[in-house]
Amino acid sequence: STENIWQGTRITITAGPTREAIDPVRYISNHSSGKMGFELAAAARKMGAEVTLIAGPVSLPTPTGVTRIDVVTAEQMLAAVQASSMDVFISCAAVADYRPATVAEQKIKKEANGEESQLALVKNPDILKTIAVSAQPPFCIGFAAETENVKAHALDKLKRKQLKLIVANNVSDSRIGFNSNDNAVTVYWQNGEQDFAPQSKALLASELNQLFAQHYFELRG
Ligand code: C5P
Repeated sequence: STENIWQGTRITITAGPTREAIDPVRYISNHSSGKMGFELAAAARKMGAEVTLIAGPVSLPTPTGVTRIDVVTAEQMLAAVQASSMDVFISCAAVADYRPATVAEQKIKKEANGEESQLALVKNPDILKTIAVSAQPPFCIGFAAETENVKAHALDKLKRKQLKLIVANNVSDSRIGFNSNDNAVTVYWQNGEQDFAPQSKALLASELNQLFAQHYFELRG
């Protein structure tokens, strides 16, 4: 039984997109539904973990027994993660890589622009990397949504962000990923990998948590 494999473990999970304001009525965001992160949180809780779920703007109910913190922007998400005490960090959120350099105080009028208009962007903090390279980091797990060269990109991220595990899905396959209820992934670590067949995100979340726990407790000895 997997009932209590996470007993005594504090797990923080980010989920959903972030939303970066352009002006009072517009923003930059992405298609992340938050489903995978919410299912991971529900499964981890069922397996005995103390779970904090830091969610971007999504319309999903809070899983039973999970502490939820709602945020909007990448900077707010980073602050919430940094304020969290955790043994394991699962970074499932689709964080916006860039945000508008300035947020206009009033709605930007098209009349103020010609046929073309530019929007200046600045880079958002990489939440996962910031946590993974901090002093005494938690056990860090990342997600990689790739449209090509999935394995090479995932392994590059594993190394660059100093992660213990990375979960890769190919978002170019419309049957799985993002808004879908199903997902198929491959998990990579320093000297191994494991494929997970297409299945519901709920079942996949349970299987992933088992793999995460196995690696976490192996490393801790
Ligand atoms: O580099 P890339 O964005 O593809 O890496 C994906 C992983 O990094 C995911 O786990 C995502 O949650 C995390 N990430 C983050 N902060 C960012 C960008 C990505 O935490 N600004």
